[in-house]
Amino acid sequence: MPARARIVVGVAAAAVAVLAGGAAWQLLAERSTPWARFFGSAAAPLAFVGSDTCAQCHPAEAKLWRSSQHKLAMDHATDKSVLGDFNDASFDYYGVRSRFFRNNGKFFVETDGPDGKLATFEVKYTFGIEPLQQYLIEFPDGRLQALSLAWDTRGKDQGGQRWFHLYPDEEIKHDDVLHWTKLNQNWNFMCAECHSTGVRKNYDAASDRFATTWAEISVGCEACHGQGSRHAAWARAKQSWWPFSKTEDRTKGLLVRFDERRDVVWRIDPRTGNAARNFTPAIVRKELETCGRCHARRGEFSEDWVPGRFLSDTHVVSPLARGLYYPDGQMRDEVYNYGSFKQSKMFAAGVTCGDCHEPHAAKLRAPGDGVCMQCHAAEKYATAAHHRHESASPPLACASCHMPERTYMVVDRRHDHSLRIPRPDLSARLDTPNACNDCHADKSAQWAVSAIETWHGTNRRGWQRYAKAFHSAWTDQADAAALLGAVAGDANTPAFARASALTELAPYLSPANINLARRALADPDPMVRIGALDMLANVSPSQIWPLVAPLLTDSNRGVRIHAAALLAAVPSASQPPADREPLPSASTPIGPRRVLRSEIFTRGVASHPMPRPNTRLRCGSARITRSRRSTSPISIANSVATEREKACCARR
Ligand code: HEC
Ligand code: HEC
Ligand code: HEC
Ligand code: HEC
Ligand code: HEC
Ligand code: HEC
Ligand code: HEC
Ligand code: HEC
Repeated sequence: MPARARIVVGVAAAAVAVLAGGAAWQLLAERSTPWARFFGSAAAPLAFVGSDTCAQCHPAEAKLWRSSQHKLAMDHATDKSVLGDFNDASFDYYGVRSRFFRNNGKFFVETDGPDGKLATFEVKYTFGIEPLQQYLIEFPDGRLQALSLAWDTRGKDQGGQRWFHLYPDEEIKHDDVLHWTKLNQNWNFMCAECHSTGVRKNYDAASDRFATTWAEISVGCEACHGQGSRHAAWARAKQSWWPFSKTEDRTKGLLVRFDERRDVVWRIDPRTGNAARNFTPAIVRKELETCGRCHARRGEFSEDWVPGRFLSDTHVVSPLARGLYYPDGQMRDEVYNYGSFKQSKMFAAGVTCGDCHEPHAAKLRAPGDGVCMQCHAAEKYATAAHHRHESASPPLACASCHMPERTYMVVDRRHDHSLRIPRPDLSARLDTPNACNDCHADKSAQWAVSAIETWHGTNRRGWQRYAKAFHSAWTDQADAAALLGAVAGDANTPAFARASALTELAPYLSPANINLARRALADPDPMVRIGALDMLANVSPSQIWPLVAPLLTDSNRGVRIHAAALLAAVPSASQPPADREPLPSASTPIGPRRVLRSEIFTRGVASHPMPRPNTRLRCGSARITRSRRSTSPISIANSVATEREKACCARR
C-alpha cells in the first residue's frame, strides 16, 4: 500500500472513533459513507441504495412516487398487492377450466401447464396494476413465466372485475409459441428490464438457466436517477461537521442531472395562441431518453445503461417501420410513447415528458385540458371556434382530437403521443386512421374532410409530412425512392422519421442517396446515423470503408456497433492497409472486429412482447432486413422482427 493512502486510512480510523459517540447512526445508515468522507463521492463504489434510502432525505418526491404506478409495476403476491379474485374463481378458455384459489395465505392457479395438462402453480408476483394485472409463476430453473390469464382491474361499470385471456379470439395451446409457458411470456428475458430497477438477466447458456437479479422489485428512484450510492455519500458528507469531507462535486454524485426544465419559461404569444421556450434545448434530451428505456419499442444490447444518454447507446430503437406504425407515423402495434413523441412538433420545440407528466407521481401536471393550457391559449383553443363541438356531451378534450387512443392488451387504452393534427384527408388517400373517424365511425373520411374544410379552409398544415413516402415504400410504388429521399434530406422533418426513411432507402442505392447518407452520418441524432448505416449496407466493399470507418469511434455505442458489424462483413482485402487488424498502434483507428469484441452484445427484447390480437403482426409484415450482409449481429438485432415473430414465421 503506498504511504499516502495508509496515512489517510489512519486518519479515517481516528475519525470513525471520534464520530462513534454522536453520529454513528449516520455512518451505519450508508455503508459507503466513511469512504466517501475522505476520498470524495467519486471514489465511493457505484451501487443501488434503494428508494427507501432516497426517501429519508427526499420525502416529498417519495410520497408522490408511492402513489405512482411505477411503484406497483411488480410486487410480491400478498393480500395487499393481489387484485384478482382468488376465492375459488374459475375461468373457461377453449375447453380449459382454470381455477384461482388461496391456501395458507398463498395464491394458486390451476391451469394448463407446459404439457397441456392441468396442474397447480403458485403465484409468486403481481405484474402491473391498471387497467389489468398479470401474475408470475416461478419454475425450478429460475424462469418466471407470465400467465396469459389476467385480471381486469377496471370497475364493474366499465366491464372490469373479471378474469380474461390476453388472446381471447384464438386458441393458444401448450405447444404454441404464445403459450404462457414459452419464451414470449418469459419474464427474465421479455419483461424484467422495464418493470424493475437494476435488472441483470444472468442467463447461463451452458446450463440454460436464469439467475436473474434486481436491485429493487419495481420502478424505483434509481430506475430513472441511476445508481445513487455516490450521491447519498455526497449528501452525507455535506451534512457532516467534519471539514475535510466537503467535496466540490457539481454533479452531486448523481449519474444524471435532470435540470433541463430549470429556468425554462414558456411564454404564450397572444397572436398565435402558442407558447415558445425561452432558450433552445440541448441536443440530448436527458429526461426523455431516460423514460424511453421503458416507454419505447426497442431491444436491449447492453445492460450497462446510464440514465440521460441517448437510448441508442444501449438499445436498438425500432424505427418508423411497417407493421409498427401507420405510414403517417401514428402508432399501430405497441410502440409506447418515445417514438411517437419524437415525431411531434412539440418535441422539436423543446417540450419534454416532464412538461406534462410529473415524473414521481407519473400523473399529469394539471387535470384534463389544463395540461395543454400551460402552453396553448384557452381563448384560442378551448373554444367552439377551434373545436366546433360545443354541444358534444361529454365535451371533447384536446386529447380526443390530438392524441387518439388505441387499445393494447385487450383493455389498455393508450394515447398517441405524436400530438398531430387530425388528417382525414390522408385517410381518404392512404387509409391511415384519424381521430375524427375514430368517433364518427359511421361516417366516411371524406365527410370529415369536408367538415374540416368548412371550419378551417382547404389548406391543411401539420408537422408530420411523410405519410405518402412511407406509404409508397411499404406498398412498393414507383415513386418510393424519390419521396423517401426528400424526407431523409429535409431538415424540418423529425429525426425519427428521417432515420427511418434512410433505412427504407437501402434497396434504392444511387449516388444521390449515398450523398444523403454521407451527410446523415454526421447528424447529431444517433438514430439518423444508424439509419444512414442501414442504407449503406449494400454499398460496394470499396466504397463502404471510407464512408463507415470514421464511425468506429463514434460517441454512441449503438452507432459504433452498427458500423463495426457492417465493416466486419467486408472482405479485408478492400480495407485500407492502415485499418487492417491486428492493430499496429493505439493511435490508428480501431478495427471493426475489435469494436465488436469490446462491446457487450447480447440480443435483447424488441418490444413489450404481448402481441395484441387486434394488431397482431402478420409474418409477412415483419421486416427482417434487406441487407445482403444480413448475418451480422446488428442487422439481426436491428430487424424489427421479435423472437415471437420469427418463431411465428418459422411455424408457417
Ligand atoms: C443523506 C441525504 C440524501 C440521500 C440519502 C439522498 N439525497 Fe438526493 N439530495 C440530497 C441533498 C442534500 C441534495 C441537494 C439539494 C440542493 O442542492 O438543494 C439532493 C439533491 C438531489 C437531487 C437534485 C439534484 C440536482 O440536480 O440538483 C436529486 C435528483 C436527488 N437528490 C435524488 C436522490 C435519489 C434518487 C436518492 C436515492 C438514490 C437520493 N437523492 C438520496 C440529499 C440526499
Ligand atoms: C424502468 C422502466 C421505466 C422508466 C425508466 C420509466 N417508466 Fe414509466 N412506466 C413503466 C412501467 C412498467 C409502467 C406501468 C406501471 C405498472 O404497470 O404498474 C409505467 C407507467 C407510466 C405511466 C402511466 C401511469 C398511469 O397512471 O397510467 C406514465 C405516465 C409514465 N410511466 C411516465 C414515465 C415518465 C415520464 C418517465 C421518465 C421520466 C418514465 N415513465 C420512466 C416503466 C418505466
Ligand atoms: C419495453 C419495456 C417493457 C417490457 C419489455 C414489458 N413491459 Fe409491461 N409495460 C411497460 C410500460 C411502459 C407499461 C405502461 C404502458 C402504458 O400505459 O403506456 C406496461 C404495462 C404493462 C401492464 C399493464 C398494466 C399497467 O399497469 O399498465 C402489464 C400487465 C404488463 N405491462 C405486463 C408485462 C409483461 C407480462 C411483460 C413481459 C411478457 C412486459 N410487461 C414487458 C413496459 C414494458
Ligand atoms: C420515472 C422517473 C423518475 C423516478 C422513478 C423518480 N424520479 Fe426523481 N426526478 C425525475 C425527473 C425527470 C426529475 C426532474 C423533474 C423536473 O424536471 O421538474 C426528477 C427530479 C427529482 C428531484 C429534484 C427535484 C427538484 O425540485 O429539483 C429529486 C430530489 C428527486 N427527483 C428524487 C427522487 C426520489 C427520492 C425518487 C424515488 C422516491 C425519485 N426521484 C424517483 C425522474 C424520476
Ligand atoms: C410545454 C408547452 C406545451 C404543452 C404543455 C403543450 N404544448 Fe402543444 N405545442 C407547444 C409548442 C411550442 C408547439 C409548436 C407551436 C408552434 O407552431 O410554434 C405546440 C404545437 C402543438 C400542436 C400543433 C402540431 C402540428 O402538427 O402543427 C398541437 C396539435 C398541440 N401542440 C397540441 C397540444 C395538446 C393536445 C396538448 C396537451 C395534451 C399540448 N399541446 C400541450 C407547446 C406545448
Ligand atoms: C374536434 C377536434 C379538435 C379538438 C377537440 C381540438 N382540436 Fe386542435 N385542431 C383540430 C384541427 C382539425 C386542427 C387543424 C386546424 C387547421 O388545419 O387549421 C387543429 C389544430 C390545432 C393546433 C395547431 C394550430 C396551428 O395554428 O398550428 C393546436 C396548437 C391545437 N389544435 C391545440 C388544441 C388544444 C390545446 C385543444 C384543447 C383545448 C384542441 N386543439 C382541441 C381539431 C381539434
Ligand atoms: C403534451 C403533453 C404530454 C407530453 C409531452 C407527454 N405526454 Fe404522456 N400523456 C399525456 C396525456 C394527456 C395522456 C393521457 C392521460 C390521461 O388521460 O390520463 C398521457 C398518457 C401517458 C401514458 C399512459 C398511457 C397512455 O398512452 O394513455 C404514458 C405511459 C405516458 N403518457 C408517457 C409519456 C412519456 C414517456 C412521454 C415522453 C416521451 C410523454 N408521455 C409525453 C400528455 C403528454
Ligand atoms: C371524442 C369523439 C369525437 C371526436 C374525436 C370528433 N367528434 Fe365530431 N362529434 C362528436 C359528437 C359526440 C358529436 C355530436 C354532438 C353534436 O350533436 O353536436 C359530434 C358532432 C360532429 C359534427 C356535427 C354533427 C353531424 O353529425 O353532422 C361534425 C360535422 C363533426 N362532429 C365532425 C368532426 C370532425 C371533422 C372531427 C375531427 C376533426 C370530429 N368530429 C372529431 C364526437 C367526436
